[in-house]
Amino acid sequence: MTDPFMRAAVVEGFTGPRDLRITDVPVPVPGPDDVPIDIHVAGVSYPDLLHTRGLHQDRPELPFIPGWEVAGVVHADAGGFRAGERVAAITLLGGFAERVAARNTTVFRVPDSLGLDAAAALPLNYLTAVFGLLHRGGLVRGDTVLVHGASGGVGSAACQVAAGLGCRVIAVASTPEKAEAALSVGATDAVPVDGFRDAVTVLTQGRGVDIVFDPVGGDRFTDSLRCLAPDGRLLVVGFTGGDIPTVKVNRLLLGNTGVLGVNISSTLRRTPEVAQRLWAELVPLIDAGIIAPLIAHERPLDEAVEALLALEERRVIGKELLRVR
Ligand SMILES: NC(=O)c1ccc[n+]([C@@H]2O[C@H](COP(=O)([O-])OP(=O)(O)OC[C@H]3O[C@@H](n4cnc5c(N)ncnc54)[C@H](OP(=O)(O)O)[C@@H]3O)[C@@H](O)[C@H]2O)c1
Repeated sequence: MTDPFMRAAVVEGFTGPRDLRITDVPVPVPGPDDVPIDIHVAGVSYPDLLHTRGLHQDRPELPFIPGWEVAGVVHADAGGFRAGERVAAITLLGGFAERVAARNTTVFRVPDSLGLDAAAALPLNYLTAVFGLLHRGGLVRGDTVLVHGASGGVGSAACQVAAGLGCRVIAVASTPEKAEAALSVGATDAVPVDGFRDAVTVLTQGRGVDIVFDPVGGDRFTDSLRCLAPDGRLLVVGFTGGDIPTVKVNRLLLGNTGVLGVNISSTLRRTPEVAQRLWAELVPLIDAGIIAPLIAHERPLDEAVEALLALEERRVIGKELLRVR
């Protein structure tokens, strides 16, 4: 691209996804450690939606281009990458565009076996799943894991990673269609939201689960704690359910229970070198054919608003993608 301008989706006010504007903006100029990427596919995730409303803990300055993750081709030699290499990246912002300048610490080489559409669905959700389950939750083969929002982006990633590592996965899903989707990405059992605690008791013969992976929060939280086996860990990943739950800490004392925060963006900001290590843990699972993200839709960039609205209205099963070129 020699044109100094590119097409991008721009947020100009914290009024929600409907006000996203597709327009021409200057092509970003890479800094010394940045890799210019010609974006082919951008991943759409709930944190993008939160950004359009100014509700994410990292509130960007207006105007900005949303887009936490992309896959594409390196535009020019930079930051240890060669022009033409197929890469995926966590960008935090800037992904809903034709070009992004991504920090080289969070740019990952895409294995030949993986298409750029699948690659765009990996960085945010799958690195969060690996980081949450293994590094925060101490997951080991044979564990039983309860996953909320199991057909969603990060939830389906958690199901696939945990199942791929030899764990039993119990998925919580709000509709039979979402339950089917969770089973298709490796969940062993799927239970409805209403009564999930009783269902877990039956499925585990009263023992409970070792880990709860929770991107939903809200009023499920206390029952999630009650689902844990002794020494269990609850991973706090997000709050799509709306409310931020509180916990009576005597519950934690009774069962040697851990409640652990999982925050990939702050981790990568503080310790950028962790990103390549997490990706390296994912690659063998990709090579083994275990990682195949559940894609909901691949839409043109022009439909970024519709993709975000679908997430907001809880209509998505799997991952929304935007095809940029
Ligand atoms: N901590 C981190 O590092 C990190 C990284 C990535 C994402 N996240 C967070 O994880 C959460 C999920 O992100 P995502 O991209 O996976 O979102 P997503 O694809 O939209 O999935 C969210 C899931 O939450 C469930 N849900 C329950 N109540 C909902 C509601 N009122 N509105 C929408 N969904 C609702 C839905 O499943 P059911 O309908 O089956 O209940 C849905 O599948 C977000 O809060 C996001 O910010 C955190």
